[in-house]
Amino acid sequence: MRKPIIAGNWKMHKTTLEAINLVNALKRELYNIENVDIVVCPPFTVLNEVSEIIQDSNIALGGQDVFWEKEGAFTGEVSARMLKDVGCRYVIIGHSERRKYFGETDEIVGKKIRAALKEELIPIVCIGESLKQREEGKTFDIVKGQIRQGFKDLSEEEFLKLIIAYEPIWAIGTGRTATPGEAEEVQGFIRQQIADIYSEEAANLIRIQYGGSVKPDNIEELIREKDIDGALVGGASLEADSFVEIVKKSSALVRSETSDKQK
Ligand code: PGA
Repeated sequence: MRKPIIAGNWKMHKTTLEAINLVNALKRELYNIENVDIVVCPPFTVLNEVSEIIQDSNIALGGQDVFWEKEGAFTGEVSARMLKDVGCRYVIIGHSERRKYFGETDEIVGKKIRAALKEELIPIVCIGESLKQREEGKTFDIVKGQIRQGFKDLSEEEFLKLIIAYEPIWAIGTGRTATPGEAEEVQGFIRQQIADIYSEEAANLIRIQYGGSVKPDNIEELIREKDIDGALVGGASLEADSFVEIVKKSSALVRSETSDKQK
């Protein structure tokens, strides 16, 4: 079993005080979790405050987006170096909301991945199909295209620094989760693509999260699937209770699987 990674994508939520309260609660509740990687991705405006609170803790910081240029006249944008400077280890790239509302293409996603890697940030790269594409039977073609285009020109060594998040768009914020079977089917396919492009070894090592209406009551069945290595959590990461429960349940599952293996 690969070490699960649970990341909270706060999207455009939380003022400074709200963010401070939330992350303090997470720190208090999750301090002893070691078998799950925990990440929070607050909005840019509170990265600094959150960063100070989680310094020297088991919670890592991530940005929700990054611009591909190093610096310059790009009003409103934030560079990888700035994210790194404020304490980020991760950055979400190519989220479907960025693709939908801000016109991000696979080419842009590729440029952002490179910019992040240059600053040694770990990109969490989102891919996934829309409801229409799924209903037209195009899921595999879409995901394959996103992988081939987005990861184009990355060496295996560079590729292995990424986390992939499979997020079927129809499951994001809708309360309609993909069933574990539906998610596993695509995530297994993604792993197969990785094996074809790079190697079996790369396919085995890369961590693939599932995202889309992950909640405390469905996390276990999802990460029990062999190709699902954690979750990118939106709505349920905005309340300490639900995010804590998601992380704790993942941690308990890892513990029970490890002890099963030792028997
Ligand atoms: P959701 O969002 O958990 O609210 O569906 C997931 C995401 O957009 O990453």
